[in-house]
Amino acid sequence: MEKIKIERLRELDEKTLRRLVEVYMRGYEGLEEYGGEGEDYARKYILWCWKRAPDGFFVAKAGNEIVGFIVCDRDWFSKYEGRVVGAIHEFVVDKSWQGKGIGKKLLKTCIDFLSKHNDRIELWVGEKNESAMKLYERHGFRKIGKSGIWVRMIRDGQNL
Ligand SMILES: CC(C)(COP(=O)(O)OP(=O)(O)OC[C@H]1O[C@@H](n2cnc3c(N)ncnc32)[C@H](O)[C@@H]1OP(=O)(O)O)[C@@H](O)C(=O)NCCC(=O)NCCS
Repeated sequence: MEKIKIERLRELDEKTLRRLVEVYMRGYEGLEEYGGEGEDYARKYILWCWKRAPDGFFVAKAGNEIVGFIVCDRDWFSKYEGRVVGAIHEFVVDKSWQGKGIGKKLLKTCIDFLSKHNDRIELWVGEKNESAMKLYERHGFRKIGKSGIWVRMIRDGQNL
């Protein structure tokens, strides 16, 4: 397989945004309940992520092509925690690139980044998204609560 590089996204121009939307739409194929609201939603959501976490937006690249991304916010006020924690707002790999270790690389980069700033990381994952939950658990996250179809998971500093 082509070597995968993880980089911080430096600039979100129109071409990059289009590619991120494509990765998002393809990544969530089969999991539409949790991320398949459509391209317009994806576009707005990715722009929101970029605004929230411009220093924690990491992309995985195969050559020059973006094949996955993760958005790591080090300044997220969690209403469940009543304080600021680190948060993973989005994490997705293009369908045809899944299962090759790219997600693991992105998640490790994100945990390294957030653990420099936060003693707790929070995320929400779809209740039937077993493979993502397993991946998070293998990286020190645990399930802590639920809201509707979403499961809240956290990872504490002492696990870092
Ligand atoms: C979750 C996601 C980002 C993981 O990315 P990935 O590149 O496929 O992950 P990896 O290849 O690093 O695999 C991670 C682990 O999951 C396992 N895995 C990956 N794809 C799998 C599959 N289809 N079936 C079973 N196991 C799988 C791998 O064996 C690996 O296990 P290991 O840690 O024991 O080696 C990706 O599957 C995805 O984009 N899913 C849709 C979006 C999503 O659910 N995001 C999370 C929202 S909270």
